[in-house]
Amino acid sequence: MLRAAGVTLLLALLCRGQSVSPGEDKATRAASQNSACLVCHGNYRTEQLAARHAQAGVGCPACHGRSVEHCGNEENIVAPQIMYSKSTINSSCRKCHPTHKTALTADANRVCTDCHGKHRLSFRTKVWDKVTGALLKSQ
Ligand code: HEC
Ligand code: HEC
Ligand code: HEC
Ligand code: HEC
Repeated sequence: MLRAAGVTLLLALLCRGQSVSPGEDKATRAASQNSACLVCHGNYRTEQLAARHAQAGVGCPACHGRSVEHCGNEENIVAPQIMYSKSTINSSCRKCHPTHKTALTADANRVCTDCHGKHRLSFRTKVWDKVTGALLKSQ
């Protein structure tokens, strides 16, 4: 993880910067937004859910907020702006995908990200409460 103050300041500036140059298409804009996150979250560069949405112009900040402080804090203790507990995932996806081509079985435990992408972390150094953003665990 990156610890140098100069580097985290630079990252915060990268996450803040969202200017759109004329002629820049939405996929290019999403890619440049994502590049600030990918400095630390390199494994999401090719992850299907993130990559497919970036192509369509939906970058990390569209779902997780700009998260400037999360990017720029030295010890990585500030949570990103928007996180998803299991119970909020389906409704967040349905804002843009109100219907599903094939009928989904009414299994209350199934969420969209069980089937789409490999978007969950298998290893964590930090755990936040996904609702309040409070730091629960840090190693
Ligand atoms: C801000 C709007 C937005 C949100 C929120 C969103 N999507 Fe998407 N999604 C898109 C757009 C735009 C595309 C690309 C156009 C399309 O294929 O519909 C897309 C594409 C997809 C695709 C690929 C479809 C294909 O045929 O290639 C899948 C799968 C998908 N989204 C699943 C999800 C899931 C799961 C969630 C919740 C975690 C989600 N989306 C949240 C906008 C969104
Ligand atoms: C049980 C696994 C499963 C779950 C749960 C699931 N999907 Fe899918 N989804 C699929 C499969 C398989 C396909 C490809 C076949 C098809 O088109 O139905 C697909 C296709 C899609 C597509 C592209 C085709 C279309 O319908 O536009 C989108 C977008 C999508 N899913 C979004 C979602 C969202 C949003 C949720 C949560 C509300 C969700 N899926 C839940 C398995 C799943
Ligand atoms: C279309 C909306 C969407 C986009 C785009 C998106 N995410 Fe997510 N992200 C989610 C959702 C929903 C979850 C919760 C998934 C779950 O728990 O199954 C999540 C969870 C995560 C998690 C935590 C997973 C865990 O195990 O707790 C990380 C880290 C993450 N996203 C990083 C990113 C990064 C980095 C990008 C951009 C490269 C990105 N996300 C793009 C919707 C999105
Ligand atoms: C300076 C490094 C750094 C940068 C830059 C960074 N993150 Fe993170 N992020 C982390 C760390 C560390 C974790 C904790 C994951 C772990 O345990 O390894 C995390 C976790 C997350 C999570 C999971 C939260 C949850 O649900 O538990 C999301 C979502 C996330 N980051 C989104 C983003 C987004 C979006 C950006 C870009 C705007 C970004 N991050 C930029 C270091 C960073």
